[in-house]
Amino acid sequence: MGKSYDKSTKLSDFQAEISKLAPSLVRLSKDNGSICWQVGYHAKNGEVYPLDYAIFEAFRTSRDLVLRNRIAWTFGHGEHCRDRFSGRHETILWYTKKGDYIFDLDAVRVPQKYPGKRHYKGPRRGEFSGNPFGKNPSDVWDIPNVKAGHVEKTSHPCQFPVALAQRLVNALSGSGDTVLDPYAGSGTTGIAALLAGRRFLGAEVNPKYAKIAEARYQALARGTLRYRADLPIRSPQQNEAVSQKPDHFHF
Ligand SMILES: C[S@@+](CC[C@H](N)C(=O)[O-])C[C@H]1O[C@@H](n2cnc3c(N)ncnc32)[C@H](O)[C@@H]1O
Repeated sequence: MGKSYDKSTKLSDFQAEISKLAPSLVRLSKDNGSICWQVGYHAKNGEVYPLDYAIFEAFRTSRDLVLRNRIAWTFGHGEHCRDRFSGRHETILWYTKKGDYIFDLDAVRVPQKYPGKRHYKGPRRGEFSGNPFGKNPSDVWDIPNVKAGHVEKTSHPCQFPVALAQRLVNALSGSGDTVLDPYAGSGTTGIAALLAGRRFLGAEVNPKYAKIAEARYQALARGTLRYRADLPIRSPQQNEAVSQKPDHFHF
């Protein structure tokens, strides 16, 4: 909403398009598959509207779907607001159908924050308490967004990081499954799907963006595509220049 590729910035048009598409997505999804929808906020005249409200409404009519998580994707860069807190998160609604569904938590575990933590009471007192394969990434994901300087940056105005799509693809689909992104943009979901050994179908209305996606798939096939692995965000060390506080800074 409000990006250069949007024909309309009316919420009613956004809602109408999603509502039209939603039943087809439900129909096309396998019984053990998932639907994930990532969106941010629409801001107009200082008022923000969470666009996932519209997605939630559109899918609410489907009795076959169950909302499993509302994931907050947080990131470090964006507009510096003066009249409200700067927006640094968007959301992903993750739906499955009723019954069994694929959820491979082990495929997306992240490093433990306190790997040396031990049980302090009970029969396992003194033993390490964390899972050695990492912890559940939770429903708050801190993954750098794709701004200038990011290794994945193309000229697409709203590119998602590969790591974001990878978590969803790796956890929610199996080897050889097909991943569909009806708003494929620069092809990020396709890259995550192909990296994980899935098949991919993408739709993109703008030929310029479709060409970017094609070039990225080809670079992936050649082994030359650059992307940021899903690793914890590095904090600058105290001795680095960016960590030094100028004399006139109060905090
Ligand atoms: C948020 S962007 C997707 C970005 C993508 N995840 C990426 O990482 O590059 C949404 C994309 O949907 C495309 N789009 C909008 N309406 C469409 C439609 N009706 N059919 C197909 N693509 C559409 C836009 O051109 C835009 O590239």
